[in-house]
Amino acid sequence: MSGPSKYQPTSAVGKWFHERLPIVAFAKDHALDFPTPKNLNYWYTFGGILAVMLVVQIVTGIVLVMHYTPQTDLAFTSVEHIMRDVNYGWMLRYLHMNGASMFFIAVYIHMFRGMYYGSYKAPREVLWMIGVIIYLIMMATAFMGYVLPWGQMSFWGAKVITNLFSAIPFVGDSVTTWLWGGYSVDNPTLNRFFSLHYLLPFVLAGVVILHIWALHVVGNNNPAGVDVKGPGDTVPFHPYYTIKDGFVIVVFFMFYALFVFYGPNYLGDAVNYVPANPLSTPSHIKPEWYYLPFYAILRSIPDKLFGVIAMFSSILILFFLPWLDTSRVRSGRYRPIFKLEFWIFAVVCVALGFIGSKPPEPVYVFWSRILTFYYFAHFIIILPVLGLMETPKPAPNSISDDVLGKSSLMPAE
Ligand code: HEM
Repeated sequence: MSGPSKYQPTSAVGKWFHERLPIVAFAKDHALDFPTPKNLNYWYTFGGILAVMLVVQIVTGIVLVMHYTPQTDLAFTSVEHIMRDVNYGWMLRYLHMNGASMFFIAVYIHMFRGMYYGSYKAPREVLWMIGVIIYLIMMATAFMGYVLPWGQMSFWGAKVITNLFSAIPFVGDSVTTWLWGGYSVDNPTLNRFFSLHYLLPFVLAGVVILHIWALHVVGNNNPAGVDVKGPGDTVPFHPYYTIKDGFVIVVFFMFYALFVFYGPNYLGDAVNYVPANPLSTPSHIKPEWYYLPFYAILRSIPDKLFGVIAMFSSILILFFLPWLDTSRVRSGRYRPIFKLEFWIFAVVCVALGFIGSKPPEPVYVFWSRILTFYYFAHFIIILPVLGLMETPKPAPNSISDDVLGKSSLMPAE
């Protein structure tokens, strides 16, 4: 995609090194010179934000581990120790805790951006599917991290979610016992969750490298959804997008700081400041906000096994999105009906999240069923049919035309 390297070592040492390991050329080609469509908007800065947030989570996490004890008798108090005794421990913890939420806000924007501009369509299917794997790893990592403070919601959340596996026919109970490392959520469970919570972010970092690799093979999509036709359609990544991404990262950090310093527990649950007690069930068990739409889907179905299947399917269906959307036009910008339906779908997801936060009262159960139906209909019925029926609007012939505001009468490819 980026063509032959423009890197020429200037010193004798540089040349000697380049002939043995061309890493400087690689970094220059992929981080500085990479040809990037010149019409990318601010929605395209969230990949960069995500990469930075992953680093923030790993760095704050490693320092937290220096003071945390993964043992049921000590976990809760070790977190209190971090908050009260460790120098800036409160800040580290709040950065990590709210960092998880910021990570999910960014990933949801990043995913919906991809859905709007059809970034999952050929030739970016693998890039998209690697993204779905990243999302699954993020969910698992955050779930296990939430158990570590060993508060009431940590314990009961772990219990409810791991119990879901008991719905698997025949082997369900054995699987759950295996996950727990015993006959209930206890010390072995906390230990293995701690171990995996430490490991998975590094796996995530590896998969992110594959994600960027796949991106650099096919190149970025762009808001017009038309292919790069020549050098006139692109600009080098540096300085154009390093500056744009850098600016947005600063703004995003201001938003993040607002939570860390002014409302550190706003996105959390007060019940998790009560130490875990296996003998006292909280009146209302609910997961962190970023899982709520899926929790609503789970509870919308009266049968436990089918509820679990629906919940996992609601995420796994994303793998098939590149083939479910039959439209020839990539960007939603030129698809008038899709555009409207996209926003309905976004509202449905938010509404499912709202319902997931509510107790399972009849009115919420009723709406969760309708919304769950719509969620699946979006993928299985609406996208395939709409792609065949909709008449797209004229799209620009090239990225340069898009920047100049010109559009052809030809539908986009
Ligand atoms: C740790 C999480 C992630 C990181 C660090 C990351 C990083 C990036 C970066 C740097 C880009 C290029 C800049 C941009 O388009 O914003 C990108 C593009 C993309 N990502 Fe991700 N990503 C992550 C998660 C995901 C997820 C969960 C999905 C989908 C399920 C996804 C799908 C895509 C797609 C389709 C593109 C190409 C977009 C286009 O060119 O229009 N990514 N990602």
